[in-house]
Amino acid sequence: MRKATVSDRELHALFQTTCDYTPPRGSITLIGAQWGDEGKGKVIDLMTGHADIVARFGGGANAGHTIYVKDKKYVTHILPSGIVRRGVINLVGPGVVIDLGALRTELEIVNACQSQVYLDRSATVVHKIHRWFDAAREAAARDLNLGTTKRGIGPAYEDLASRRTVKLGDLLNADRVRKALTERSYHEEKRAAATAYPDMLDTFPTLDDIIDDLMAYQRDIRDLLDDTRERIALAQIEQKRILFEGAQGVMLDIFQGSQPYTTSSGCTHGAVGATFGVYDSLAVIGVAKAYATRVGLGPFPTELHDETGERMRQLGHEFGSTTGRPRRCGWLDLAALKYAARIGGITHLVITKLDILSAFDTIKVCTGYTFENRPVRDNETLTNRVLSEAVPNYVELPGWNEPIDEVRDVVDLPHQARRLIDLIELETERRVIAIGVGQEREQIAIA
Ligand code: IMP
Ligand code: MG
Repeated sequence: MRKATVSDRELHALFQTTCDYTPPRGSITLIGAQWGDEGKGKVIDLMTGHADIVARFGGGANAGHTIYVKDKKYVTHILPSGIVRRGVINLVGPGVVIDLGALRTELEIVNACQSQVYLDRSATVVHKIHRWFDAAREAAARDLNLGTTKRGIGPAYEDLASRRTVKLGDLLNADRVRKALTERSYHEEKRAAATAYPDMLDTFPTLDDIIDDLMAYQRDIRDLLDDTRERIALAQIEQKRILFEGAQGVMLDIFQGSQPYTTSSGCTHGAVGATFGVYDSLAVIGVAKAYATRVGLGPFPTELHDETGERMRQLGHEFGSTTGRPRRCGWLDLAALKYAARIGGITHLVITKLDILSAFDTIKVCTGYTFENRPVRDNETLTNRVLSEAVPNYVELPGWNEPIDEVRDVVDLPHQARRLIDLIELETERRVIAIGVGQEREQIAIA
């Protein structure tokens, strides 16, 4: 495991408004350590209080971060969570695929909160063709669908990989947009591919539909275009505090997740290097819920199909912030978390929503899998095949049956709750540095 170059105390300062230690200067990365929706929004929100720059490095409007500030609820999809903090500079990097509709809505938050935003000129624009194919494929696949968010994410990244995208900077000029959409027969080729979905063909966007739609956003983005990689490089020289904000989670990563049930972008620490060229984060903080959820299809070894799962869903408000879909719920899976920590480059963990488990008399935790009548090896890759057939081995811990939402220091947690945290640390070989005990900003216990 890569050693973090900061002390736990310096990291604790990131989650507190007053502390004897100052938060470290340099880059910190925060990523999801499960299947997305780990409660990153709340954790990032605390950390942005100490950041000069917050940068999104991957994904698009498939993400949904919920942030509660006093009685106000903000949901962001495309812009970094620092937009709710006055004065914080927020960057959307070259690896993000931009949904202009979501962007426009979130720019209102930027104005209201007096934060700043810059968008990378080279970022890929999501357009109508992407959303069309995402929806058409999901509908045609019927029960073999992937359960995508239908935000056009997969088709947009396909175009990026095949080097035929509209870049955000192209929006300065309608001719550049038209060129990008017609070069090397782009639109004609997509139109031909669309005939595979005859039922929907009459809604396939024309060139003019796409161009008119995109150009309507020119004014929104015109003054926000930037070279975000240069800005990050300069900020590094000036020893600024930079926070890289991940979307989704390691288990949904395009390479490390269970293909085809993944998203189409990088969700590990590797994606920070691949997009911003930053390889020296002081710490990579993985966020994991005290139980597990997944939205969309794909293997989920500890999923509960019973009343216990339903209770988790209701108590934890486990409904997607992007699509409103009910999330699948299950027990904490330390076999998956251990894998995610290793393959995602995670150095520390933050555990969220521990308070939700207060309602359960017994808490089960998966510490390993049996696959094809043998134990899954310590460093074995958790492919779709392995995860689909893995039988979880559980340990059972007694619940604590008392509220913990007032706890601010881990030593004040009930003994049984501390046992759970100890088990997480033991199995993942990562320190848990903070624990979410409620949805408010201040409801966090420092470990
Ligand atoms: P896509 O990213 O919309 O193509 O969806 C692919 C899979 O990733 C689906 O199972 C989605 O539900 C899931 N997914 C994508 N983004 C998120 C997220 O931010 N949180 C949770 N699940 C996500
Ligand atoms: Mg989410």
